[in-house]
Amino acid sequence: MLSELVCFEPGCRARFPLDEVIYTCPQCGGLLEVAYSGDKPDPGSLKKIWRERRMNNSPLDQSGVWRYRELLPFDGNAAGVVTLREGNTPLVNGPRAAAYAGIDSLVFKHQGFNPTGSFKDNGMTCGATQALRVGMRRVACVSTGNTSASMAAYASAAGLQPVIFIPHGNISYGKLSQALEYGARTLQVEANFDQILALVRILAERLGIYLLNSINPFRIEGQKSIIIEMLDQRDWTPPDWIVLPGGNLGNTSAFGKALRELASLGFITRMPRLAVVQAEGAAPFWDLMQSADRAVLRPVENPKTLATAIRIGDPVSWKKALREVECSNGIVARASEQEIADAKAQIGLCGIGCEPASAATLAGIKKLVSAGVIRSGDDVVAVLTGNVLKDPDYIYRYHTGTLQTPAGAPIKPTFGNNPIVVPNDAGKIAELLAK
Ligand code: F0G
Repeated sequence: MLSELVCFEPGCRARFPLDEVIYTCPQCGGLLEVAYSGDKPDPGSLKKIWRERRMNNSPLDQSGVWRYRELLPFDGNAAGVVTLREGNTPLVNGPRAAAYAGIDSLVFKHQGFNPTGSFKDNGMTCGATQALRVGMRRVACVSTGNTSASMAAYASAAGLQPVIFIPHGNISYGKLSQALEYGARTLQVEANFDQILALVRILAERLGIYLLNSINPFRIEGQKSIIIEMLDQRDWTPPDWIVLPGGNLGNTSAFGKALRELASLGFITRMPRLAVVQAEGAAPFWDLMQSADRAVLRPVENPKTLATAIRIGDPVSWKKALREVECSNGIVARASEQEIADAKAQIGLCGIGCEPASAATLAGIKKLVSAGVIRSGDDVVAVLTGNVLKDPDYIYRYHTGTLQTPAGAPIKPTFGNNPIVVPNDAGKIAELLAK
């Protein structure tokens, strides 16, 4: 298929070649997306080719992103791809989590199994590849932690220089330390995510640095592979619901785009419904969905949540995400700090584990089941966006009863598991374990 960049704004729809270094429409400032045209691939033969590629040892076929390269905007040209064998993330059953939410079964698509431990790698492999193709030397992003960890890794792997901007004091050490280890120049800015994104957009232009935030349409294209791979793993049977956490709303945009493209190409005949879950203290998209007029999103001035990955008040991709939620007959929910923390512990008790933002999915499902929106027999896939080890501090505090909401209220360790200090004494330990 042929591909080009197209302005997302219905009144504009200006078109640009793929190798133009732009992130928003130069004519109207709208978001850009990749549009495909020309000969449509045959779903039957692609499904077979993609399955066969899993058995192949070439790095491209081993990647759970590039295996699906026919649906990526590189025109079949696989030269110079930066891959760390991303994707290939499992579907795992969480019966205990399903019972907790009140549904018969629940499957997690665990993006925490990626090379840097989050779903960002699916998009970053495409973003870093595009940076090389357009001849950039330096790449930058603002991040709540995972994008920066991922960008640092892919940039260093590609021989590009990563520069990351993070909100000072507001990302987990797990993520910050990844960026340091992968060699990123790391700037901790005394501002929040939304303010820093505005700053970085100016700096990227002024200094000629390639911007790798999810405003970059190539990131979104890569993240489509999360859905393509999930459907491939399910032998192309779509679930009733796909549930994901929402922050900057790039992933929601990518999931919806993947589903629409797969449906229009004939890979699936039924659209799953998207359910996006935000944290109560950072829920501008939820607010938007409650309002009668969805033409303007009102940013949350000072977003607050312990799920720092989704601590975003002014999501850049909200217009795309709105289209995808509407097109899929989807829904937006929000969850409290206590609900997210308890849901996270339940995912842990399945032997699965995830970072706080990812647990918003289970908290959201439980609420949507109580509200009668998701029914007990529905086929539900929840996407866990980040690895359990991303934020160990949160885990320790929850289990020891010392976790507090951003406002300072205690979070109850409903499923707490406090470590016990014991003397070096076999008798006393045996006595304790007998209880
Ligand atoms: N879950 C995790 C673990 C994340 O890191 C993010 C976003 C999201 C969910 C939300 O995804 O922004 O596409 O709606 N993290 C970004 C970052 C913002 O900088 O790492 P979204």
